[in-house]
Amino acid sequence: MDRIIALGSDHGGYSLKEEIKKYLDERDIKYIDLGNDGSRCDYPDIAQMVCEKIIENKAALGILFCGTGIGMSIAANKIRGIRAAVCSDYFSAKYTRLHNDANVLCLGGRVLGAGAATELVEVFLSTDFEQGGRHSVRVDKISKLENDN
Ligand code: RB5
Repeated sequence: MDRIIALGSDHGGYSLKEEIKKYLDERDIKYIDLGNDGSRCDYPDIAQMVCEKIIENKAALGILFCGTGIGMSIAANKIRGIRAAVCSDYFSAKYTRLHNDANVLCLGGRVLGAGAATELVEVFLSTDFEQGGRHSVRVDKISKLENDN
């Protein structure tokens, strides 16, 4: 089965989400768009819908868009099992997959242009976690923090 990417935005991230959908369509990357349609909404509601798809194994990874990416990342990281990273540079988008096993990329529609955002999405989706070793130990400690607090 093809890997599915869950997408969601508020009004601040809507235009960038639409740009990224064009990129995903061109590469035949399967996605589900959980909204919204560009109208004013509250980003935690969208973050919750996208993250639930990941937790339920209905999507492999998520991409959330708001004005800065920050609100989405704060909300998403409240959900057990979600490791959301707000990125605006290529190195971070790559290493948050390699080292943090981030499962949600958060992008700022008022921060990034479509070209830069597309590069971040490309590297995020094509990079795997460095399983085993010190990074697994650290990610396991993140899970322990979630369970203990
Ligand atoms: C909405 O105006 C804006 O606050 C939101 O998109 C986001 O940037 C929050 O972090």
